[in-house]
Amino acid sequence: MGAGAGFLLAAAAAAGLLAAAPGAAAARPAAAAAAAGGGGGWGGGAGGGSRAPPGAGPVEQLRTAYGDDPARGFRAAWSSRDASAPSGWAVWRRAGAGLPGHPLVAAGEPVTFGGAQVRRHSEGVLDANVQWLLTARADGLEPDTDYVYAVGCRFGNAEGGGAGGGGAWDGRPAVRPEDCLSALHTFTTAPRPGELPGRKPLRVAVYGDMGVKNGRSLPRLKALAAAENLTAVMHVGDLAYNMWEDSGRRSDVFLEGVSPVAANVPYHVCPGNHESFRDFAEYRARFDGTMPNQGPGAMWHGFDLGPVHFVMFSSEVFFYSSRHGWGLVPAQHRWMRQHLAAVDRTKTPWLVTMAHRPMYCSPNDDLDDCHERHSLVRNGLPLPFKFNKLGYEELLQEFRVDLHVGAHEHSYERTWPVFRGKVGGKGAGAYDTPAGHDWLGKTVHLVAGAAGCRENTDPWLGKPGHFSATRLNGYGFGLLSASRTELAFEQVDHATGEVVDSFTITKPASAFAEAD
Ligand SMILES: [Fe+2]
Repeated sequence: MGAGAGFLLAAAAAAGLLAAAPGAAAARPAAAAAAAGGGGGWGGGAGGGSRAPPGAGPVEQLRTAYGDDPARGFRAAWSSRDASAPSGWAVWRRAGAGLPGHPLVAAGEPVTFGGAQVRRHSEGVLDANVQWLLTARADGLEPDTDYVYAVGCRFGNAEGGGAGGGGAWDGRPAVRPEDCLSALHTFTTAPRPGELPGRKPLRVAVYGDMGVKNGRSLPRLKALAAAENLTAVMHVGDLAYNMWEDSGRRSDVFLEGVSPVAANVPYHVCPGNHESFRDFAEYRARFDGTMPNQGPGAMWHGFDLGPVHFVMFSSEVFFYSSRHGWGLVPAQHRWMRQHLAAVDRTKTPWLVTMAHRPMYCSPNDDLDDCHERHSLVRNGLPLPFKFNKLGYEELLQEFRVDLHVGAHEHSYERTWPVFRGKVGGKGAGAYDTPAGHDWLGKTVHLVAGAAGCRENTDPWLGKPGHFSATRLNGYGFGLLSASRTELAFEQVDHATGEVVDSFTITKPASAFAEAD
């Protein structure tokens, strides 16, 4: 969207109004302080990414994700208890370096204003936990550019004027800004597909199975975000433990707890088994409409980030006889085939897929799908041979997926390149794509379910699987980085920050020559 005259006036007014908003400039320092304190940060607004604790104010549970074109847009989602407050947001191009604050915003170029979609949400029969779920989108932004934004107010008058309503700005805020504005937050758009960020390294946190209780990895994730040292987060299912509990307040606490990260760094999700209650109702309510290029209920989505194309999908479709379970088995497979076929590997040589339940894992104390000879996620439906079984390992092979990440097992494991149980190679050089080839010939699999939850860890038992390169039991999360020729992954200990496992998949520079 362009910046018209009324727009600029609105921006100036809004910038002045923002200065009056308590705590508006404190987003980064508060997040940093919370991280330095070492506490989990769950359960309240202190140090949170939005100003209010759950249930106490107009903006809570604020988080972001990339738009359908991550280089050009992003979206924000939040909750409000106040149905009467006009809803909307404002986005400015961030001016200069340093922390976001009023002077930066005042000097920054306004780029977009808009209203937000509002849906009423309640859970529980006797105890409704009523709240309003809001989502807003910014499009037409510049790639690899820092923006600051605030949500909550529509910066116009109540009759629909001003930026939120499309009419003329009359200089009057619709409501008192101090009653409805969030803190200021930053968002950096993705580089153009195929390009690397110009000013910061590409670093994506990867983990599953992080809950409110025992969510060990959160302080370090908050510290990384506060230091502007994190590009994005991929949470591979099992959020909050459990989102629906306490009439959905467990979701409130979780989303407020991760907000210091997610309000400033795109936070991408796919569903896990812990989201399955009542046909994934709480997950769908909170995330539908917030993921780029998403399927129904945010069950799957995909996007480019620099030289990597990411896809998150639902392993849960095989396990629940509901509309968003079995009802989506063929639809998701069909979408995934079409989506993977459309990936331009000359721009994004790396293809990384994620789904909650892994396809390969070594023995532990669980009896999970990945231990089965016929894994539903890996092999598909147990149908006679002549049918298309709609499993995903064949699809990863067909579309030359480099890395597939699962979670669910509360531990960390890395495989050698593997397909149909056959390992491509072990030891030094196993992750180096030979000259003249464009991928390893088999997919590398990870289990990344050790972020921390109330079910603790799942200790490995007995001997590792023949496909296993490394398996670990400690709590932590992954950090993925990429250039055109290297896809690197580090598993980080949650407490010490020590890298406890790392590997790099390489491709020859000639493998995916960029198209002219
Ligand atoms: Fe799980």
